Order: sequence, then structure tokens, then C-alpha cells
Amino acid sequence: MPTIIIVGGQWGDEGKGKIVDYIASSVKPDFGVRFNGGANAGHSIENNYGKTVLHLIPSTVFTPSVLSVIASGVVIDPTELLKEINELNSLEVDTSNLRISDRAHLVMPWHKARDRAEERLRQKNGQRIGTTGRGIGPCNGDKVSREGLRVGDLFQTPAYLEQRVRWLHKLNEERLIGTEEELEPFTTVFGWLTWFREQISSFVVKSEKVLFEADQDGKLLLLEGAQGTLLDVEFGTYPKVTSSGTTRLGAYQGIGFVPQGETKVIGVFKGYVTRVGEGPFPTEELGPEGENMRFVGKEFGATTGRPRRCGWFDAILARYANQINGFTSLVLTKTDVMDQFETVKVCTGYRLGEEEFAYPPLVEDEFAECKPVYEEMTGWQTATNNCHKFEELPKPMQTYCQRIEELTGAKISLISVGPAREETIEINI
Ligand code: IMP
Repeated sequence: MPTIIIVGGQWGDEGKGKIVDYIASSVKPDFGVRFNGGANAGHSIENNYGKTVLHLIPSTVFTPSVLSVIASGVVIDPTELLKEINELNSLEVDTSNLRISDRAHLVMPWHKARDRAEERLRQKNGQRIGTTGRGIGPCNGDKVSREGLRVGDLFQTPAYLEQRVRWLHKLNEERLIGTEEELEPFTTVFGWLTWFREQISSFVVKSEKVLFEADQDGKLLLLEGAQGTLLDVEFGTYPKVTSSGTTRLGAYQGIGFVPQGETKVIGVFKGYVTRVGEGPFPTEELGPEGENMRFVGKEFGATTGRPRRCGWFDAILARYANQINGFTSLVLTKTDVMDQFETVKVCTGYRLGEEEFAYPPLVEDEFAECKPVYEEMTGWQTATNNCHKFEELPKPMQTYCQRIEELTGAKISLISVGPAREETIEINI
């Protein structure tokens, strides 16, 4: 059985939640796995349970036959996780099929405090990233500098746990000196952690082992990425990125092994582009066309509510994303948002002075100076959300899709023409 990896091709918010939900309901994987990010993600799903936004739990949770796993590459905010479980249970979604890696790191109160303090300092110095404030950077930073706390640490001897949390509390109290942030006393934090431990004890597993064995047994794994390739800590628009591996490469790191056999890697792209937070965005539209995309596409962050920046499809960045991920196919989402335009544009190059090139620059300043070179195409100006086959789409939209395939070097397998499961054109998953 193949492994299916679903990865964002842009700066996140491509509509991965809907696509995972759609694919899970159709191919019925044995496991649905979140492999990176944390509660900074907001995967919006609209199905027979209504509209839901998931931050940590895999979008497969709605398909009862699937075991939904939060793998070790995810950083887990205890409060957000329990809130999400309660919300799902209140919708009568069964969460007993949830599994949590004992190697996943916990987002502690000091990570969120440091995220706020660091962002304020950056802001004062004109260096703001525009983080989601969910403690993601500090938590991943602590993982790398070996000062993190993992889910499995909660289940070690009381003496070990107390000594570890005491040390981390002291370290972080010192780090926060001189900021506006203050930590709750150690005993409060420790009490909260032990309470959290009781709530999650039935979910915790060695996920890399469970998933490895499942893969050996020929089970189908559906791996769900958070954020997008251009926010990857290594290959994204650094330093305006998140702090985890958001690509196919991050998927292998985040689950703990390389699955055997055929792998389908599906890159999810909006038909246009959005970005939340700061950072380069060569095709950003600051005028009425961008406003239109934001208004019609309801482009406001699912986690923070911030308005998203909007612009035209950037085929340079999409091809770069394909280079990194080796997509076996692409999914285009929210193309219905583009139904209104008389003409649509695709960026096919960047111009910097006299020079024209087709590869993303390394640094922000150079990005900022790049002028996009556009190919303009006729719009379709017809509602498409009732189309169920590629051939039913208006001809100019078919041409638009084919041009994106040519420019990025990957075939389109699905087109999402509206938020609901049924508003999807399946070509060849
Ligand atoms: P952080 O992940 O909260 O540290 O934020 C770093 C950057 O990634 C900011 O520009 C965020 O807006 C962006 N970001 C983080 N998570 C998401 C997401 O799920 N969708 C879109 N942007 C995100």
C-alpha cells in the first residue's frame, strides 16, 4: 500500500485540512499522522459534523476507522490539545482513536511567554516575524538546545520529572528577567502537568515504532503536514519562517522513519497565494484584486484571525516547492475564489534591474526588490462550484490549470472548487 504525504506548497493555509479529510474519506487510510508544527496550524474542515478548525489533531479524526497520530515532530500545547479533544467530543466525534508520540515535545507556558517577549523585542527593532504567539519557535529551539520536555518524560519517576521541570522552570524564569513576562510558580506548573498527564495517559505510544510496524505490515499511512514549504525552517523564506520541517523531508524526520514502497506526495496549492505574517511575497496584490481575493476567499487566519496577504500564483516558488518535495501530484484549492476575475495572472519569472531569473533569492532584501514577470490569461467569470469533472470546467480555467502543470512540472490530481467535501473535482489521486 502506498504512503500518502500531504504537504503545503506555499506559505500555509492552502486548504490541507479539507484535502486530508476528503482523501481520508475516500481512500480510508489505516493511520492519519500529523508530522510537524503545533497549535500554530489551523486546518479548517467542513463536513457532516459542520465546520471545524483543527490545530493539533490530524484531520483524519472524522473518519472513525482511522488511527489518528500526533507524531514526534509536532510540538504539543497541553491546553490546546485538551480544548480540541473536548470540542470534538462535544460534536460527538469519537477521539478514542487518537495516539500521541512519547517523543513529542510539550509547549510550556514559558515558550509562549518567550514567544511574546521575543516578538516584542523584534518589533521594537523592526525585525518582527509575525509569529502566531503559540510558543512554536521557543519550543523547537529548546528541543534543539536540549532543554525541552517531552510527553514521555511525564511518565518517568516522580523524582526524575520533578527535577527536570524544576530545572527548566528556573532556567526560563532567568531567561524572562527584564521582560514583561512572568511565570506561574513551579508548584502550579508542576500540578498542571501532572493533571495533563492523567488526561492523556491512554493516548501515549511509541509512535515511530507503531507506524514503522504498520508500514511493514502494508498499512496505508496518510501523513499530514502543517504550514507550507515556503515556511520551512531550512528551505523557506528565512528568517520569516516557522521553526519546523514543513516538507516531505520534514515528514520523514517527524514520523521517525522512511516508509517502504510507493509514496504519493501531494502538494496543496491555492489557485492564488496568501501569506500571514511578515516576509517576502513577490506577487502580493495590494490593490483591489488582492482585496477581492481576501473578501471572497474569507482570507483571515484560522488560528489568529489576522487578515491574510493575497496575490497571484507564483510558479517560480511552486516549481521550487516541487524541487524540494518531488510531488507526485498537485492539488489546487479555492479556485472558485478566482471565478470573478476578467484576467488572471501567473508569475513566470522575477526581474531585478536588467536581469530576469526563475529561482527564489536567498535574502529578504533581494526578494523585496524582485518584480514579478506575469503571464496574463483570460479569466472564466463563471461559477465553478457545481462542476464535478475537469471537462465541465470553463475552458479558460482548464487552460489556467494546464499552464500551472507545465510551469511547476507536476500533474493536478484534485481541484477544490468550494469548502465542502462534495465541491471537489477528482482527476487522479
Ligand atoms: P510561528 O510558527 O508561530 O513561529 O510563526 C512563524 C511564521 O509562520 C509567521 O509568519 C506565521 O504567520 C507563520 N505561520 C505559522 N503557522 C502557520 C499556518 O498554519 N499557516 C500560515 N502561516 C503560519
